[in-house]
Amino acid sequence: METEMQDSLLMRLALPLLFSFTMLVVLALLFDYFLHVTGFVWVGRYLGVTGTLFLLFSFVYSARKRKLVRSGPIKTFLMLHCRGGWVGTLMLLVHSGVHFNALLPWAATALMVIVTGSGHVGQYIYGKAREEMKRGVGNEKLYWDTLTVRTLGQWRKVHMPLVSLFLGLALLHILSIFFLWNWR
Ligand code: HEM
Ligand code: HEM
Repeated sequence: METEMQDSLLMRLALPLLFSFTMLVVLALLFDYFLHVTGFVWVGRYLGVTGTLFLLFSFVYSARKRKLVRSGPIKTFLMLHCRGGWVGTLMLLVHSGVHFNALLPWAATALMVIVTGSGHVGQYIYGKAREEMKRGVGNEKLYWDTLTVRTLGQWRKVHMPLVSLFLGLALLHILSIFFLWNWR
């Protein structure tokens, strides 16, 4: 009974998330290759701005969570967070792939991939917690004590500093671009 639960959890939650993360990397490489062979490399430059806009949009989830946005199901906002983060990451990976000169923006890109990967892991733990809630693990107090819910708390403690570091590096890159443009 317990292993059956684990199996279906793996199929319904883990596999789609693994697929989603793999597709992100594969599609980025394909788009990058496509831009290079068709001579549209310049498009990659603009994807820096659009990708950043998508990431910024994905923070509507945080706004909803902190009640800056008052209505709408939290589930939908988390979905928007994931989709927005996914598309933004894809665009920024293609933007990065254009060339390799500077270390700082590449450090930002590496962290972005780690953050998105971590997001996928968080999504798995989140889904598992919801599953357990639905099955009704004892009463409500017991639910908040479950290992899964505590794991989600631990995961957040790792995820948040990674996000901050990524945002810091991304901001430095964007600022340096704007300063360089002014000088020219
Ligand atoms: C570069 C892309 C991403 C960034 C910068 C990012 C950033 C964040 C931030 C700041 C939070 C905390 C939200 C809050 O408490 O206000 C968060 C939570 C979360 N993210 Fe992401 N994320 C990204 C991509 C993703 C993706 C692609 C997914 C899904 C596959 C995802 C799933 C989650 C989940 C499940 C949570 C936890 C929700 C919660 O604790 O309430 N993230 N992310
Ligand atoms: C408003 C947003 C952004 C703008 C306007 C922007 C602009 C640019 C420009 C103009 C270049 C080309 C620099 C050159 O030709 O030497 C560049 C390169 C790059 N950007 Fe961005 N970018 C943005 C956001 C981002 C973000 C968020 C990341 C990381 C996730 C990123 C990662 C990179 C990387 C890795 C490169 C290649 C650096 C190299 O030459 O080695 N960019 N960006």
